[in-house]
Formats: sequence, structure tokens, C-alpha cells
Amino acid sequence: MLSLKKEEQYSSVIMKLIILFCFIASSLADGDEEFANYSTTNRCFPADFHFGVSTSAYQIEGAWNLDGKGVQIYDTFTHEHPEKMDDRSNGDVACDSYHLYKEDVACMKEVGVDYYRFSISWSRILPNGTIDNINKAGIDYYLNVLKELKANGIASMVTLFHWDLPNDLQNRGGWLNPEIVGWFKDYARLCFAEFGKYVESWIIINEPKQICHYGYGNGQFAPGIVSPGILEYVCARHVLLAHAKAWRVFDEEFRATLKSRVSLAIDSEWYEPASSCKADVVAAETKLQFVFGMYANPVIKGNWPQVMIDNIARFSKAQGFNESRLPPFSDEEVALIKGTYDFIALNHYTSYMASAITDPNHVGEVSWEEDSGVNIYKKSTWPTAGYPHTSLPWGFGRILRWIKQTYGNTEIVITENGTPDTTGTLNDEDRIDFMRSYMSHMVDAIYDAGVNVTGYTVWSIIDNFEWTAGYTKKFGLYHVNMSDPSRPRTAKDSSKYYSRVIRTRCLLDFCESIRNGPDSTKNC
Ligand code: NOJ
Repeated sequence: MLSLKKEEQYSSVIMKLIILFCFIASSLADGDEEFANYSTTNRCFPADFHFGVSTSAYQIEGAWNLDGKGVQIYDTFTHEHPEKMDDRSNGDVACDSYHLYKEDVACMKEVGVDYYRFSISWSRILPNGTIDNINKAGIDYYLNVLKELKANGIASMVTLFHWDLPNDLQNRGGWLNPEIVGWFKDYARLCFAEFGKYVESWIIINEPKQICHYGYGNGQFAPGIVSPGILEYVCARHVLLAHAKAWRVFDEEFRATLKSRVSLAIDSEWYEPASSCKADVVAAETKLQFVFGMYANPVIKGNWPQVMIDNIARFSKAQGFNESRLPPFSDEEVALIKGTYDFIALNHYTSYMASAITDPNHVGEVSWEEDSGVNIYKKSTWPTAGYPHTSLPWGFGRILRWIKQTYGNTEIVITENGTPDTTGTLNDEDRIDFMRSYMSHMVDAIYDAGVNVTGYTVWSIIDNFEWTAGYTKKFGLYHVNMSDPSRPRTAKDSSKYYSRVIRTRCLLDFCESIRNGPDSTKNC
């Protein structure tokens, strides 16, 4: 007994020494030399690579109560809580794309993009969210957008759900009510039937983490429910089931006639181990599993990542819960969810450092963040502009390599990448640098690591309503004058830069003059 105690004491001391060593190693590595590589690749894009731009309904459309549209949760959230937006604004008019969509398409045409990713507002076509009340004007609006794109030779990538849940469904519990799986399935079927022949690819749900963690965990986004570590997991479970049902509807009822491909867009930062010590490497891997794996693992492998199942069960017990706060999937549900993707859709903006928590008996607060049991931080030496979208291009290459290593060589489409400015300048050099360096790391990942990335989508074609940042953060390749009722769009320099990349299929200016034609392996 005594010797066992001694052994425990020794191993605890050894553990503490290892952690201390890791801490010192990570502090010494703080010089950032390893991240200094911001250089631009001199290789060209593969010949069949596709370039796009993206938006979402609430962020650009306006017309919040026109032509039969129903109210949705961001109408309510912004009207009832203007203080939650940095500039107390809302999307009532936004870029007025409901009326000005042809101007948006003209901007895309000018840039020369291959495709446009935009979303359908559920309550514009089903004002109450359910299939018994279809708004014909809403259907017509999206058909007009799709036809305009087609007429201009631009393919469509359509998102079914980019956060704007019909209010009536929120009043019935929103993503916490299991019935939402059926409501969503009906809505998805209607969209596939009405719009399918114009759509090249579908993103069923955009960024489930933002929906559940910000909507039902810390409550910063609509519907503003605060239930960290509990209801945010219930939300995630229903989002995944709704996604899976919609994907199956497409697969079983539409795939034979429509040639589109279907996925869900997962947002993930890269998490860089704070040192090469095993504890930090494991910490970074754990965090990636809590962020990307939380949604990718179910659709690819059928269930939550094992580390989530284990951590949350352990912490729940220590916190006095009778069972794990992470609701399990039944065998039937695992079979339903597994395989419901045709490609991996990744939204990526920035990176964090990840380190192990020093106390081996640590039990955190009840929340998704704390359940990972990992410390994350940004280095003080990193660029802070646009926080939390700090520009760290090397992280893009690393997450792409990690996805390949973790989930195999599935096709990956980058469904969002971009950076905000706060001034609205047309000479947006910073954005050009951001795009050039991020795309550069992506191209290197394609050639050096064989990562199968086939498309890149800039967020966004136009400045728009950036959720709780309102109009203070401007992501557009085109400036939109929000104080002019006619909302004029003006090209920023970045739109011309992106246009040149698409035309030359190359990141470097001099490529244009020396390239003869598309040749994916040739250096520029
Ligand atoms: C993620 C979201 O999908 C989009 O709505 C948002 O505006 C951008 N990233 C930028 O934060």
C-alpha cells in the first residue's frame, strides 16, 4: 500500500517535470521563426481547379419582410437586441441583393469566377418553416438568381441553411426540438425539387459550430440561448441528424437525375502544438477533434470523435452529472449519418496555438471549450489586424495536410476564406497579401502533400452584414456604400487581383507575361 502511494508520488513528480519541461520548451519556441515563411509559391494551380466567391442570405439580401417572407431568428435578434451588434445595425436592407442581385452577378462576371456560393433563406420560401405554406415569390426570387448566374456562365453552389432559422420554428424549440429533423428534411426536399436543375453543388448546413456553440452555448449569436456544455450538444446532435436526413433525401430521390454533389461546410481553425512535447501534440490533436472532428467524424466515420466521448464522460462524472453531457447516437443514427458527404467543405480563416493543461487532475467549467481540456491562445507576436481572423497563412497548409492524414485523400473544397478590413478602402493591399499567401500555402499542400483541394471560395464578393460586428468588418472584394440607398458596389483592388489569379491560374504577377497555357506542373 505504502509503496503504491510512493509510486504514485513519483509518477506525479515525473509528470510535473515533463509538463514544466514542455512549458519551458514552448516559451523558448516563442520566436516565431518557424512561422516566418510567408513567401509565395511559384507554382500554378491545377488546370481543373475552380474559383468562387460566397455570401449568405441574411448578410446581403435585405427585404426582410417583403413579398411574403416570414420572420427569422436574426430579424428578431437584431431588432430586439441591437446592443449585441457593434454598430447596433441589422440586415433589414443589408446590400439589398433581393433587388440588386444582378449587380452582384455583374461583379462576379467582372472577376471571372467559376461559381457563386450563396444561401437560401428558409423563411423566404417557407414563411413558417413548415411545408404547408409555400411562398411562391420566394421560390421565384431564387430561380431568378440561379437563371441570372446561368446566363452569365457562373455555376451555383447553394447553401440550404446559413443560420437564419424561421422564427416560428424557434418558438417550437428550434434546434433543440427533435422534430426539426423532419422540418428540415421537408425544406431540403422542396429546394432540391425546385432549384436542383440549376445547382452544381449543395452545402446543406453552414458552420454547425457557430449555430450551436454561439447560438445555444455562449449565446452570442441568435437565438441567444446560454447553455454551455449541455444544450449546445443537443443542438449539434440535431444539426447532424438533419444534415444526414437531407443528404439521404438527395441521395435516394434526386441523385439519379441531378448530377449535383452535396456536403456540409465545417469551419475550423488550425491548432498548432505549443511545443514538440507529446502532451502539447496530443493537446493540439484533441482540440482539432473538438472543432473539426466534432462534425467531420460523424459524417465520415459515423460517430462523435472518441476523444470527445471519453473527455465529456469523464468531466461530466467529475462534475456530478449522472451521465455524459454529450448525447449519444444510436446504432441506427450512426448508420444514417455515416457517409453523408460527397466532398469535404472547409471554411478556414485563422489558427491558434494549443498546449496541454498543466494540472493532470484538471476539471474545467461545463462547456464545449473546457471539455477539450486544452489551452488555446494567439501569440503576442502574431498580426492582430482583423482579430479573430488573424492572418496566419501557414496554418492553412497545415490543416489541409492534417485533414488528408486524418480522413484520407477525400476531395476538399474551400468554401470560405477571407479577411476583413474596417475602413472600406479600395486599395486593400492587406487583403491581397492575405489571399496571395493563403492560396500559396494551399497550392503547396496540393503539390507537396498531394492534398486533393479542387476549389477555393473567397468570403465575400461584397461587403455585407458581419453578424455581431454589423457593418464594421468589411470582407468584400467590392465595397458597398451602406449609406447610399442604391447601395452602389465598387471594385476594390483585391477584386482585380483575384481576377488576374483566375485568368492566369497563378499567384505571381510575372506569371501572366510568361505563361503559355494551362499546365498544372509547370513553374511560372
Ligand atoms: C463564417 C460565416 O459562414 C460567414 O457568415 C461569416 O460572415 C464569415 N465566416 C466571416 O466571419
